[in-house]
Amino acid sequence: MAERSFSWSGYGHDALQRLAAPWRLATQLEKLSRIARGAREAFEFAVLGDAEPGRYWFSRALFNRPGVFARQLSAIQSQPVDFMIQLGDMVSCGRPNLYQRFFEQLEGVGISKPYLTVLGNHDRSNPHGGSHSRLYRSLFGRSNYHFDYGGVRFVVLDSSRQRVTKAQLKWLSMVFDTPLRKLVFTHIPPVMLRLWGGAVAHHMGGFSDGAHEFTDLMSDMGVERVYMGHVHGFGVQDYKGVRYILTGGGGSPLYPCGVERFHHYLTVSIGPHGISERVHPLDGSSFHIPPGKVLLAEA
Ligand SMILES: [Fe+2]
Repeated sequence: MAERSFSWSGYGHDALQRLAAPWRLATQLEKLSRIARGAREAFEFAVLGDAEPGRYWFSRALFNRPGVFARQLSAIQSQPVDFMIQLGDMVSCGRPNLYQRFFEQLEGVGISKPYLTVLGNHDRSNPHGGSHSRLYRSLFGRSNYHFDYGGVRFVVLDSSRQRVTKAQLKWLSMVFDTPLRKLVFTHIPPVMLRLWGGAVAHHMGGFSDGAHEFTDLMSDMGVERVYMGHVHGFGVQDYKGVRYILTGGGGSPLYPCGVERFHHYLTVSIGPHGISERVHPLDGSSFHIPPGKVLLAEA
């Protein structure tokens, strides 16, 4: 897809594609397919949020804590999880040299678990304006996809343009037409969850276009969880019968905002017993997210 139109900033197209090859969606799904899980078998997977270190030098200088993403990636390799999903914003801006650094970082960690990705706004050509995702898709693959694993349908939705389109909603309706359990992973939260900054600035942390249709569909189709990033913190809300979990603390700067702000990743246990999440902050401790209605994300 129009790969020759990119500015490669001195880094060769072929070399970058070679670096990306192990991390492509198709490669990672093939790796996952070698781990067999029965439809009623319990298993665990990990969810890790935003990694980009800050788009501007001053935000990196003020708020970034280098090395956190790599530390958490490394810690996940020791967890009894079958695979992990990264919720987007891997790089500060979707340029070849930044993806190069990112792939080199992945190689340096020594990742053994299948690594699946979600497209974030920063992974696009311009994080906060007109942009495209051709480079991301040339490196990783599709940005809307699903796969089945152990009796669960995992659905990855591209909300990186701060919207969910009618075509995506139609695709979701088809994908959800299954007796399997359903989990959704997307970068940006729907705006009504108010996961960012309360009444004044919450629009910065959520998508509006298609938000009501999206949340209604999650409820109507019996989705058990929606995991989201974009806002660099942690929060949980139950909305119209669906639990939405913000886990944006993968390593990106913890800007002042109206959420619980700490670096962390999740391990998720799912099986006949139900589904539950354990939160792993950077200090090595962990805690379960309690069942029932919780509101840990209000401003
Ligand atoms: Fe984002």
